[in-house]
Amino acid sequence: MKRVLVCGSNGLLGQRLAYLLDSDDGYEVLHSSHHRSFAEEDILIDYTQLDISNRSDVRSLVSSYRPDVILNAAAMTNVDACEREREQAWRMNVTGVENLVEMCRRISAKLIHVSTDYVFDGKQGNYSETDRVHPVNYYGKTKLAGENVILTGGIDHAILRTILVYGTGVNVRNNFALWVINSLNDGTPIRCATDQISNPTYVADLAMAMKLSMDSNTTGVYHIAGADAVSRYEFAVRAASVFGYDPSLITRVQSADLGQFAPRPLHTTFDCSKAKRDLQYHPMGVTQGLKSLQEELTGIHLN
Ligand SMILES: NC(=O)c1ccc[n+]([C@@H]2O[C@H](COP(=O)([O-])OP(=O)(O)OC[C@H]3O[C@@H](n4cnc5c(N)ncnc54)[C@H](OP(=O)(O)O)[C@@H]3O)[C@@H](O)[C@H]2O)c1
Repeated sequence: MKRVLVCGSNGLLGQRLAYLLDSDDGYEVLHSSHHRSFAEEDILIDYTQLDISNRSDVRSLVSSYRPDVILNAAAMTNVDACEREREQAWRMNVTGVENLVEMCRRISAKLIHVSTDYVFDGKQGNYSETDRVHPVNYYGKTKLAGENVILTGGIDHAILRTILVYGTGVNVRNNFALWVINSLNDGTPIRCATDQISNPTYVADLAMAMKLSMDSNTTGVYHIAGADAVSRYEFAVRAASVFGYDPSLITRVQSADLGQFAPRPLHTTFDCSKAKRDLQYHPMGVTQGLKSLQEELTGIHLN
């Protein structure tokens, strides 16, 4: 039986991994995150507090638990906050990864890590794993630096780059889909960019890709994203249609009109054929993902 350590278990992806791995007898799993307790009280899991940026804490936990695999879902993910609070962003997204890599090397564990479309500048679109990286904001720079630490770290690894992850969980950070749904539910008008185009990724698909990667022992960089390429505006209109809200509340704007603090790459769609071939990764399209989210939200109070 493989021993697995999950980092960042309180996040959107981390909570989904807890559900997914909880029902799998093939793994012994220890979940961990920055916060002292696990957010989702309804499932019983083994949980411990771990700040991945704290080298001595990572050393002592990893050397006592001795995982075969570390799944890293921990990161500072707020793009504008990363632009403003650069030291903290570096500590979470680079120093934290360095600490995990150091310990994976020591005990010969594999690291499965999550990165982002924001390592690209968004000028080209339909990116494959070998396309040239060129981040346009600090979040993207830290995530690229984290990738490089892994690639040069001499460890067994998989890096799953993903895009605009949506879903729900307990006290999860607001994501684009939840913001759209909550706003439309309240009757609040929203402005969404027509020129930010990507493949929104349902969190269950991303968690499944991590598990497929762990099961299949594949190595290297993989692009993991949703099946459909849409603009933020189209995604919001699709959400209005699935949830039965008034689409006239959604106004089309250009990215430049939004005044976002950090620059955004505009066209970051992914070619996921490598993951489809090697991992048997078959993601949902936007409508299917939003319908699944709607089912999940029944009974869950939105933030
Ligand atoms: N969300 C997206 O749209 C998106 C897009 C592309 C890539 N990604 C990548 O996907 C991964 C998962 O993202 P997500 O959406 O699940 O993020 P998230 O919801 O923001 O969760 C990240 C979690 O990381 C934990 N964390 C932060 N710093 C930590 C530290 N120093 N030590 C331990 N835990 C720490 C936090 O845990 P506590 O709550 O316990 O503090 C937080 O819950 C990240 O690598 C992100 O860069 C996300």
